[in-house]
This record gives sequence, C-alpha cells and structure tokens, in this order.
Amino acid sequence: MSSVDILAIETSCDETAAAVVRGGREVLSNIISSQIDLHTLYGGVVPEIASRKHIEKINQVAGQALHEAGRNLSDMDAIAVTYGPGLVGALLVGVSAAKAMSFASGIPLVGVHHIEGHISANYIENKELEPPFVCLVVSGGHSHLVVVRDYGEYEILGRTRDDAAGEAFDKVARAIGLGYPGGPKIDKVSRQGNPDAIQFPRAKVADAVYDFSFSGLKSAVLNYLNSCEMKGIPVCQADVAASFQKAVVDVLVEHSLMAVEESGIDKFAIAGGVASNQALREALAEACRQKGVAFYRPSPILCTDNAAMIGAAAYYEYQKGVRHGYDLNAVPNLKLGDRA
Ligand code: KG4
Ligand code: ZN
Repeated sequence: MSSVDILAIETSCDETAAAVVRGGREVLSNIISSQIDLHTLYGGVVPEIASRKHIEKINQVAGQALHEAGRNLSDMDAIAVTYGPGLVGALLVGVSAAKAMSFASGIPLVGVHHIEGHISANYIENKELEPPFVCLVVSGGHSHLVVVRDYGEYEILGRTRDDAAGEAFDKVARAIGLGYPGGPKIDKVSRQGNPDAIQFPRAKVADAVYDFSFSGLKSAVLNYLNSCEMKGIPVCQADVAASFQKAVVDVLVEHSLMAVEESGIDKFAIAGGVASNQALREALAEACRQKGVAFYRPSPILCTDNAAMIGAAAYYEYQKGVRHGYDLNAVPNLKLGDRA
C-alpha cells in the first residue's frame, strides 16, 4: 500500500471530524465530534450554532487525529478538506483551518467534494474494490444513482426531483413525533412496526426511470396522520415508521437493481447517512445476492459524515496531481463532478 499519509478535515454539516488516512484505504485515526445533542434542542441543524461549534472544536479534533495516528503534521503528505456541498459557514471553518495548516507547514492542500467522500468510504473496508461500479448515494442533502467510471469520474444516472431520502426520513420523523435526528430513530422504531400496515405510494418519475421523488410520500404520510386525527383513530407510530421506511427502501432497491442490470456492471455500492439504515442494507444485500451482484457497504460509522472518507477520496485526487491554492473557497452547492 502506498505510504501517502493525508490529514483530512470535514465540517460540512454538524460533525467536526478529522482523520489520518494512509494510501486512501488504511485509516490510522478517525475522530468525529458530533453536535447532535446541541441541535436536538432545536429539532434540526442550526447553521450558526454549527459554525460556532466547529470553530471551538476543529483544532482539538485535528490534533487528536494526528495524535491517535502517532503522527505529526510535518509527517503528512497532504491536508485534505471538504469544500462543498454543505452549509457555507460550517464548510468555511474547515476550509480556513486546512488552509492555515497548509500555509504554516508548506504541506499541499487538496479540496474534496463531500459526496465523492461518501462514495470513497467504500474503498476503506473493501481493499479490492475498484471502479467501475454502480453507487447509490443517499444522504441528508442528496439522493443520486451514479456509475463510478473511474476514481473521481462519475456518470449520474438519476437524482431526486425534490426531497433527498434523508430529508424525507427527517421530516416524517418530526411529523410522527420522533424528533431529530430522524433517520436513526425511524430505523430503530420500525423494528417494532409492521411494514405492510399502511400502503404508502412508491413514486415513479415518468420521463426519467432512475430519478427519485420523495415529497409525495412525505405528503401521503402527513395526509394519513391528518385523516387519523380527524376520524379519531389512534396512530401506531411504529407501523407508520415501518411502512414509510418500506416505501423508501422499495424504490431505492428497484432503481438500484435496474441501474445495475442495464449498466452491465456487477458491482454495487451504497453511500451516505441513509446507507446506514438496517432495512435498506438488508434489502439490497438480498437483492444483490439473488442477482449475483457483489454488494459493498461501508460500516454505519463510515456512512454518516466522517473525515476518513474525505482522506480516501483525497488520495486519488492527490495521485492525479490535484493541489488547491490558498484561494480555495467553500462552495455550498457544489455539484457532483464539478471541480474548484
Ligand atoms: O451523509 P449524512 O451524515 O450527512 C449529509 O451529507 O447529509 O446523512 C445524514 C442523513 C440524515 O438525513 C439522517 O436522518 C440520515 O442520513 N440517516 C439515516 C440513518 N442514519 C442517518 N436515515 C435512515 N436510517 C438511518 N439509520
Ligand atoms: Zn454527508
């Protein structure tokens, strides 16, 4: 394995994270300082609070990542940082910290796309995985079905037309009184519910078979809750959660398998926070097994936001010669495949 060591920093949303990654695949340390408890008070991420907490934590978290890896900053070959997409104020903290460290040490700076990071999380525990493969990226802000043609080269087959999958989980969780963070809570409570109790719609986008639409499903859940309230029928939280989750999982599995079949690529991976969902992982594992397709999924801790995945993505950029200047800026709406 290559001995290129990268210090990676991730502050795009509500986790302050730093990691040291060797050769893109070996994690020497992976520190995640979550702000979830703070934002829970407000029922969601408050951007101003996220930025302030990142400022308080970033030096400590980066220092701890180096310490746990048994390395000094001067041992690093590159400093990598997420520069988009994400919350602009949150991204700026990581970008500024990485630029300052790079300037002070003379170590090259590599800006990383957050979604490329999520996809690259798959390389960490699957040392043999190489492109091309099909990847379903489902996070709080994104739902994409892509073909990873080569390292850093993506062909987008489909995307969401409205809400991201994680966003739908968060909104439905709020509506049924589970609160924030919605995804993990629906995942947990669904295990006590009946996924066939309520028939929620599985939306199709007429002119684009790989695209997703989750806002109709969210409205169907809200309508169901309203009609129960009007008729005085008690709502079973676990049944609503499980039936909603099943509707999301069914659509994600159907589209993913269609993409795998039509692309002729027999390797399929998942990425992003929603990829830690147990029902989704089980359904995709079974569907891939039946089709004889190799299924890759990062451990749950590498699915949600972390810096190890940024170090993995940065390695392949670094090997291609990508270096960023001190004019690197945060790009909150950076598209997959775009480069600064
Ligand atoms: O990738 P991520 O950590 O941050 C973004 O880049 O957005 O994804 C966060 C999203 C949230 O919407 C969260 O509710 C969802 O992933 N999520 C889950 C689970 N864990 C996190 N959704 C369903 N089931 C889970 N176990
Ligand atoms: Zn993310």
